[in-house]
Amino acid sequence: MALKGYPPAPVPGKGSLKDLKEAAEDCHACPLYKTATHVVFGEGSSRSKIVIIGEQPGDKEDLAGEPFVGPAGSMLDYCLEKAGIPRNTVYVTNAVKHFKWTPQGKIRLHKKPSAGEVKACKPWLEAELGKIKPDVIIALGATAALSVLGKATAITKERGKVMEQEAYGSPVIVSWHPSAILRSIRSEDTEQKREQLIEDLKLAAKVALKKPQ
Ligand code: URA
Repeated sequence: MALKGYPPAPVPGKGSLKDLKEAAEDCHACPLYKTATHVVFGEGSSRSKIVIIGEQPGDKEDLAGEPFVGPAGSMLDYCLEKAGIPRNTVYVTNAVKHFKWTPQGKIRLHKKPSAGEVKACKPWLEAELGKIKPDVIIALGATAALSVLGKATAITKERGKVMEQEAYGSPVIVSWHPSAILRSIRSEDTEQKREQLIEDLKLAAKVALKKPQ
């Protein structure tokens, strides 16, 4: 849904993921394009069986124009490897395609996107999922879960389950966002959340294996 005062996301009616990515360069559907360096679109094959959705690009991703290449990306890569899932077999994207930040000294500090910004960006996620039709979606953290499931979701309570109610024709598993793992203050929490994300990724791989080809 378009944000008041902004045009709707210019999602093309047809074309490939590459066409979608190119069209997203001109997206002015919310104010975030004004302060971001790049639009950070999803990456991976349209034949991916697993789609992983994060919140929004971080500082490193904004500069590189690629999703999950900073510290959260390293944590995701570690967990994918432990789960036995090569990163190049999954499609990785975000609920919001521009980096939202606030200056703090010389640092660009991550700022959570608003519900309106998540909604304004949703047509891109819908278009990606419509092209890929994955066997399973993994939503990392509350913002991704909000975008995909359309409701607030407590990760602590809902993680580790296959939600068969299906979003866009695919079952959904919610799990910890890698940044939440990195932010944990107690090392026991870091370890527990990291192990749970690995478990949830393994569960996704199992769901994908079970689907008829
Ligand atoms: N956090 C996210 O949610 N996505 C990224 O691409 C990087 C960090």
